[in-house]
Amino acid sequence: MKFIRTLALLLLGVSAASASREKPVIGLSLDTLKEERWQRDRDTFIGAAQKLGATVIVQSANSDDTRQVRDVESLISRKVDVLVIVPHHGEAMTRALRSAKEAGIPVIAYDRLILNAPLDYYLTFDNVKVGEAQATYVASRLPKDRPARIVRIYGAPTDNNARLFKQGQDNVLGPLIKSGRVQVVHEDHALDWKPENAKKIMNAAVTKAGRAIDAVIASNDGTAGGAIQALQEDGLAGKVLVTGQDADLAACQRILRGTQAMTVYKPLKNLAELAARVAVGVAKGETPATTGVINNGFRQVPTILEKIITVDRDNLRATVVADGFHREADLR
Ligand code: GAL
Repeated sequence: MKFIRTLALLLLGVSAASASREKPVIGLSLDTLKEERWQRDRDTFIGAAQKLGATVIVQSANSDDTRQVRDVESLISRKVDVLVIVPHHGEAMTRALRSAKEAGIPVIAYDRLILNAPLDYYLTFDNVKVGEAQATYVASRLPKDRPARIVRIYGAPTDNNARLFKQGQDNVLGPLIKSGRVQVVHEDHALDWKPENAKKIMNAAVTKAGRAIDAVIASNDGTAGGAIQALQEDGLAGKVLVTGQDADLAACQRILRGTQAMTVYKPLKNLAELAARVAVGVAKGETPATTGVINNGFRQVPTILEKIITVDRDNLRATVVADGFHREADLR
């Protein structure tokens, strides 16, 4: 009798395991749904995962670290097969990742790196190239007959990507600043990537440096929007080159209106579909191929970097509209 019961339990266990391999459950923990892009990432990821037979449980932490750790731990207690995380703070997830490791649940960092923790995969865009694209765009359009005066608005200090964007910008601007061709008249970090924080930085820049500003290197479209609001108050909108990132709808409208010069388009569909494939593969016990590794301070993490595209008014339709990222009708 005891043997039969053990056999039954064993078969149940096996069938449960194979069932979850067939229909994996993915835990998706997001920093926020505040920015337009994260809503798109969520929806595209869920659609792609469902097509692969998976179920997705979504949690959004509203930029609160304690809450995000709690979110991840509740997903672990619900026995998800794999975790996909967009961290608010790259260094605040260590405990949560240790719990996932103990529970035998693999973890994929989506877009932003999780630092100093046992991470299994990192899937993102080439973030250093984003910064290089922003700075190159500006550098090639600055006055040549006098030192150019620029403002730099960096992203959230909690976000490892903000550091990579700045690194890319420094790769291009460094020599220009050293030679005196470029002067940084003001620079600061926009906490939590908030547009209102970027506006305050731009107001402070005009107060400190006056109206003679040639360009603002804003690290994403949200912060670009905040800076342009401040420029509008001083009648400078459209007269100062402003960069961005994410090809938000509002940013694309500003680019066509001429108040923002460029954005960096990151085809989210590519990243979200890739992440769904990798998550489902890992849940099924596979080892998806990657293109490189990145050291997160704990280990060399298998990584895939997706390509980025520089967009301005000349190629906006051939890229963002052609891809169906935005409809022509919405751009007016
Ligand atoms: C970054 C992300 C950017 C931008 C920003 C604000 O990590 O790579 O696309 O959206 O966060 O959410």
